[in-house]
Amino acid sequence: MDARLTGPVTSSSDIMLECRGVCKRFGALAAVDGIDFTVARGEVVGIGGPNGAGKTTFFDLISGLTPTTEGDIRLMGKNIVGLAPHRLIHLGLARTFQLNSAFDGMSVYENILVARSFGRRSGGGSALVAGSDKQAARDMLAELDLEEFASMQAAEIPILARKRLMIATALVNEPDILLLDEPVGGLTPPEIEDFIALMLKLKAQGMTIVFIEHVMHFLTSVADRAMIMHQGQTIYDGAPTGLASDRTVAEVYLGSAGLEQSA
Ligand SMILES: Nc1ncnc2c1ncn2[C@@H]1O[C@H](COP(=O)(O)OP(=O)(O)O)[C@@H](O)[C@H]1O
Ligand SMILES: [Mg+2]
Repeated sequence: MDARLTGPVTSSSDIMLECRGVCKRFGALAAVDGIDFTVARGEVVGIGGPNGAGKTTFFDLISGLTPTTEGDIRLMGKNIVGLAPHRLIHLGLARTFQLNSAFDGMSVYENILVARSFGRRSGGGSALVAGSDKQAARDMLAELDLEEFASMQAAEIPILARKRLMIATALVNEPDILLLDEPVGGLTPPEIEDFIALMLKLKAQGMTIVFIEHVMHFLTSVADRAMIMHQGQTIYDGAPTGLASDRTVAEVYLGSAGLEQSA
């Protein structure tokens, strides 16, 4: 990417994201409690853990939505603590949200176009739409199988298409790293398979992805690595295949959704 945007890159340019001792406290609650987390270029990492573990808060810290209490976060070597979300989009970090977020009254095409004109890597942040933005938006409609919904209002399309739309609005700005918060929440098993295929396509293109997901079948099908959080801390960071036999992970999931049930 453009070196003028990233500033000096530290030793390994293959490290996309590096978090050291990241903490977020809400009063007495340590929602994120000293997380160390590194993501290499092209890696796909799935974050799991029970409700309230701190997963979304961790994403909010990385994406600049919530200020950190403590810790260091680097995006491709650049310290990004304190940068606003739109700055991070321009630096190559895009994210989606747990709940479907779109401009409901706008069409699918317009949603992608607006995301592009504000988040574009060079000269973004303006309401002025360039011809190249329209082309990028049309390309994204095709890429994510959204052409049939292009002129429909975002509120009116099926949930699977809404999930794809969120991915489209993130991808249209050509991010270097994509963060997805529960991308398949609320989808049926066949829809989840459809999303697994989409993720594998992005992965084959070399996209670096970090996603949060409860659905273990999705996590183990898509991720190169799994990180499991509990009470703001990392209790597992390693191969997804090792999850089923890890005692701490099993204990944490016991009585909740359960690894077996959601597999
Ligand atoms: N803005 C906030 N103010 C106070 N507590 C919060 C806030 N956001 C999240 N929390 C708390 O932080 C903990 C982690 O929440 P969250 O990151 O949403 O968990 P997860 O995404 O793993 O389900 C929860 O106990 C939640 O209630
Ligand atoms: Mg969450």
